[in-house]
Formats: sequence, structure tokens, C-alpha cells
Amino acid sequence: MLPGAWLPWACLLLLARPSQPCPVGCDCFSQVVFCSDEALATIPLDIPPHATDIVFVETSFTTVGTRAFSSSPKLTKVVFLNTQLQHLEPDAFGGLPRLQDLEITGSTFFNLSAVFSNLTSLGRFTLNFNMLAALPEGLFSHMGALESLQLQGNRLQTLPKRLFQPLKYLKTLNLAQNLLAQLPEELFESLGGLQTLRLSNNLLSSLPQRVFAGLGSLRELFLDGNSISALPPAVFSQLFCLEKLWLQHNAIGHLPPSVFSALGSLTFLNLQGNALRVLPAGLFAQTPALVGLSLSHNQLETVSEGTFAKLSNLSSLTLSHNAITHLPAGVFRNLTKLIKLYLGSNNLTALPADLFQNLSQLALLSLSRNLLTTLPEGIFDTNYDLFNLALHGNPWQCDCHLSYLFSWLHQYSDRIFNIQTYCAGPAYLKGQVLPALKEEQLVCPVARDRLGFQAPGLEDGELGGGWDLAAKGRAAWRRCTYSNPEGTVVLACDEAQCRWLNVQLSPRQGTGSPGMAYNATQEWELKSSCGTVSVTVSIEARAGEP
Ligand SMILES: *[C@@H]1O[C@H](CO)[C@@H](O)[C@H](O)[C@H]1NC(C)=O
Ligand SMILES: *[C@@H]1O[C@H](CO)[C@@H](O)[C@H](O)[C@H]1NC(C)=O
Ligand SMILES: *[C@@H]1O[C@H](CO)[C@@H](O)[C@H](O)[C@H]1NC(C)=O
Ligand SMILES: *[C@@H]1O[C@H](CO)[C@@H](O)[C@H](O)[C@H]1NC(C)=O
Ligand SMILES: *[C@@H]1O[C@H](CO)[C@@H](O)[C@H](O)[C@H]1NC(C)=O
Ligand SMILES: *[C@@H]1O[C@H](CO)[C@@H](O)[C@H](O)[C@H]1NC(C)=O
Ligand SMILES: *[C@@H]1O[C@H](CO)[C@@H](O)[C@H](O)[C@H]1NC(C)=O
Repeated sequence: MLPGAWLPWACLLLLARPSQPCPVGCDCFSQVVFCSDEALATIPLDIPPHATDIVFVETSFTTVGTRAFSSSPKLTKVVFLNTQLQHLEPDAFGGLPRLQDLEITGSTFFNLSAVFSNLTSLGRFTLNFNMLAALPEGLFSHMGALESLQLQGNRLQTLPKRLFQPLKYLKTLNLAQNLLAQLPEELFESLGGLQTLRLSNNLLSSLPQRVFAGLGSLRELFLDGNSISALPPAVFSQLFCLEKLWLQHNAIGHLPPSVFSALGSLTFLNLQGNALRVLPAGLFAQTPALVGLSLSHNQLETVSEGTFAKLSNLSSLTLSHNAITHLPAGVFRNLTKLIKLYLGSNNLTALPADLFQNLSQLALLSLSRNLLTTLPEGIFDTNYDLFNLALHGNPWQCDCHLSYLFSWLHQYSDRIFNIQTYCAGPAYLKGQVLPALKEEQLVCPVARDRLGFQAPGLEDGELGGGWDLAAKGRAAWRRCTYSNPEGTVVLACDEAQCRWLNVQLSPRQGTGSPGMAYNATQEWELKSSCGTVSVTVSIEARAGEP
């Protein structure tokens, strides 16, 4: 057969393809047209009339002419990503009565005049990363339906005070990563429905007192990454719905005591990376809904007793990287829902024995990189859920005073990750890994002349001189905590009686702890350094009275 005889067959095949006219340089998928040919030098004239979405990626045309898309009146979405676009002619998007989503991102735009005035159906308008230096005051005057406006990553230095006035239905406004050094006080005044406002990473050093006064629906406010050094006392006073406030990485040196007092709905507050030395009394008195609070990387030297007293819903508190030298015993007492507490990289030298007393849900505690030499006996006795404890980077004094911590670490050795917890003293144990020591090594010199340390509960000179064994065979003065190796069942007893029983019902993530089923009876052999006990636990769960 002649090779040429195949030709008509090949043509038939081509014709048999589901035929859909598609502009050269584009691919058409159902109602979506995708144009990514660098050579595409103009907006194609033959866009399929039924297309709803058109996306241009890295195309080289620089201009969108007047009513360039008017032969595709069904378009609802037009996107330009990293294209060479520089200029829009008047009414460029005219003739698109259903256009809802217009995006121009990553072009080299430097100037925009009032070319969008007919886009009354537009809901989302995205102009991110376009090097825009200024916006004309009337730019949005016929975009009354807009709900989302993204202007992130441009070069805006100032904004006309009435720029956003027509946007009565706006819910999201993103002005992050610009060069804004100040905001007109009236700028957001008419945005009563706004829910999210992003002003991160600008050059703001101060805020007008009433700049957020119209934002009664705002849920989330990003002010992080600016140079704000002070907040006007009433700047947040109308933000009754605010749930998240991001103020990290600014230069705030002090806070007005009532600055958060209207924020009864606030659940997350980030003040990390500022210059706070003290927290005024009552700062968090009116924010009882807080769940997460970060104050790390400030210059706090202490925190007063009542600071967190109203935060009964707080689940994460970060105080790391400050200069805290001491904490009052009651400072965390009302934080009964606290799960994570970060106190690392401070100057703590000692902790009160009851510091963590009411924190029965505490699961993670970091005390790393402080100046702690020991921890008081009983400090973790009510922290039944504590399974991640960081202790490294402290000058631990491995003597009899550390025996509580030592036996606690051994009790829960499966849950604690403290490989790098070294002894700083006494000299003969320096550099040893604390959990790897033998209990017998934790000894204190007994000094007849009362100059030295002494193990708690022992009469002076009881051992007759030299060294005193810290715990071995002398359990009378401390509690015994029995547990199975997985920590599913923990029973704590003192001399007189057993005081509490903790049963893990569900498997704990990441520990291989087997847990215990409802309506089950199970026998456990529990061990401690005091000996072994057998415990039978029966659980029956059924619905109570309504
Ligand atoms: C708005 O649309 C009308 C008719 O569609 C057109 O004549 C006019 O030029 C458009 N205005 C602007 C500013 O683009
Ligand atoms: C922006 O463009 C308009 C018209 O194209 C021009 O009149 C105006 O001066 C330009 N503005 C800037 C800041 O370049
Ligand atoms: C604390 O959390 C609970 C449960 O999420 C919620 O019902 C309660 O309203 C919160 N308390 C405050 C003061 O927000
Ligand atoms: C601690 O919380 C309790 C109950 O939630 C409350 O009655 C008490 O006033 C709080 N303590 C302080 C010092 O606010
Ligand atoms: C915290 O502990 C104290 C003393 O043990 C107790 O009186 C108080 O009721 C506890 N507070 C809360 C909120 O549980
Ligand atoms: C905290 O400790 C660091 C280093 O140990 C020290 O330079 C700093 O002066 C201490 N700060 C205070 C307030 O004690
Ligand atoms: C446990 O058993 C009781 C009856 O003894 C029953 O009412 C209840 O539904 C059971 N609970 C579960 C979780 O199986």
C-alpha cells in the first residue's frame, strides 16, 4: 500500500475528535479556556462563546483593549497570572455582565486609572504582586458588589481616604506587603461588613485612634510585621466581634491597660516579637474567650499574679524568650484548660511547688534553657496528662533535691523526650545525662555542722556522716506513683492511703499506649520504685438521666 493512502484515514481521525474550536495558543476544557503560550500576542478574538473561565499564564501581550472579551458574555472569571500586562484600555472588561472574579497577579503594572467603572457584578478582585504604586480615589466607585479585594504585595505608600467608601459589602481586604506608612483615619469607615483585614508587613509606625471604629463585624485583624511602637488606648474599642488579632513583630514597648477591653470575643492574640517589659494589671481582664496567647520574644522580667486569672479557656500560653526571673505561685492557677505552656529561654532560677497545681489538662510544658538547678518536690503531682516535658539547657544540680524529678522522669520515661538533659553539678556528675543516672547517685553531702544540704525529712546526721542516699529505701517521706509501662493506669499513694487513680481510656497518640475500652474489666500490674501493686479496674459507661 502506498504511504499516501493513510492520509484520508488520519484526517478522519482528526475530524472524529470531539471538535471544540479553541484559540491558537490555548487549551479548552469544557467551559474553561487556559492560555499559556508565551507567543500569544493579543487577547484571542475567537474565545468560545460558552466559556465561563479564562486563564492567561505567562503570556506576552501588554495591553487589554476596550471590551476585549465582549464576544464571550458568559465569562464569570478572568485571570492573568505572571503575564506581561501593563496597560488596560478604558472599559477593558466591558460587556461582561456576569463577571464575578477578576485577577491580575504578578504583572509589571505600575499605574491604574479608573478603568473598572462598569464592573457592577464583580465579587472578587485580585491585584496581588503588581508593583502598583498608587490607586485613584474613584477606582472602586462602581464595584458595589465586591466582597473580596486583594492588593497584597504592591508598592502602595498611601491610600486616598475615600478609596473604599463604595465597598459596602466588602468582607475581605488584603493590603499586606505594601509600603504603607500611615492610614487615613476615615479609610475603613464605611466597611461595616468587613470580616478580615490584612495590613501585615507594611511600614506602619502608628495608628489613628479611630481608624478601625467602623469595623463592627471584623473577625480577624493582621497588623503583624510593621513598626508599631504604641497603640492608642481606644484603637480596638469598637471591634466587638474580633476573634483573632495579630500584632507580632512590631515594636510595642507598652500597652494601655484597657486596649483589649472591648474584645470579649477574642480567641487568639499574638504579641510575639515586641518590646514589652511589663504587662499592665487587668490587660486580659475582659478577654475571657482567649484560647491562644503568645508573648514570646519580648523583654518581660516577671508576670504578676492576676495577669491570666480570667483566661479560663486558655489552652496555649507562650512566654518563651523573655527575661523572666521568677513567677508568682498563683500566676497560672485559673488556667484549668491549659494544654501547652512554653516557658523556655527565660532566666528562671526556681519555681514554686504549686505553680502548675490546677493545670490538670497540661500536656506540654517547656522549661528548657533557663537557670533551673532543681524542681520542688510534687511540682507535677496534679499534671496527670503531662507527656511532653522539655528540660534541656538548665544547669541541673544532680543531688538528692532532684530525686522527685528523677523518679518522675523514670515513671513516665516513655512519654518524655529529654535526651539532652545534662547535670551541671556536682562536679563528679557534670555532663552526665540525668535520666540515665542511677537513683543512688543523687546524693547530698550530710554536714554535721549544718552547713551543707540535707535530704528532706531526714534528721541531721541520721546516716552518721559523709553521704546520704536520697531515696532508696526511704520512701516514707514521698509519694509512690505506680504505673504500667505504657502509662495507661497510674495510681498514686502516700503512706496513709492511695490518693488518686488516672486511667487513660483512649489510646494516646504517638505513645503506643493501648488505652482501655468502655464496659471492660482489666487487671494491671503496676510498678514503682516503692514496689508493685495489682489493680483491677472496671469501667461501665452508660447514658445518665437527661
Ligand atoms: C461603561 O459601559 C458603557 C456601555 O457599556 C460604555 O459606553 C462606557 O464607556 C463604559 N464606561 C467606562 C468608564 O468604561
Ligand atoms: C497613570 O496613567 C495615566 C494615564 O495613562 C496618567 O495620566 C497618569 O499620570 C499616570 N500616573 C502615574 C503615577 O504614572
Ligand atoms: C469557653 O469555651 C467554651 C467551649 O468552647 C465556650 O462555650 C465558652 O463560651 C467559652 N467561654 C468564654 C468566656 O468565651
Ligand atoms: C478564677 O476563676 C474562678 C472561676 O472561673 C473565678 O471565680 C475567680 O474569680 C478567678 N480568679 C481570679 C483571681 O480572677
Ligand atoms: C485551684 O487550686 C486552688 C487550691 O488548690 C483551689 O482552691 C481552686 O479552686 C482551684 N481553682 C480552679 C479554678 O480550679
Ligand atoms: C538573663 O540571662 C541572660 C543570660 O544568662 C543575661 O544576659 C541577662 O542579663 C539576664 N536577664 C535578667 C533580667 O536577669
Ligand atoms: C455499657 O453497658 C451498659 C449496661 O451495662 C449499657 O447501657 C451501655 O450502653 C454500655 N456502654 C457502652 C459504651 O457500650
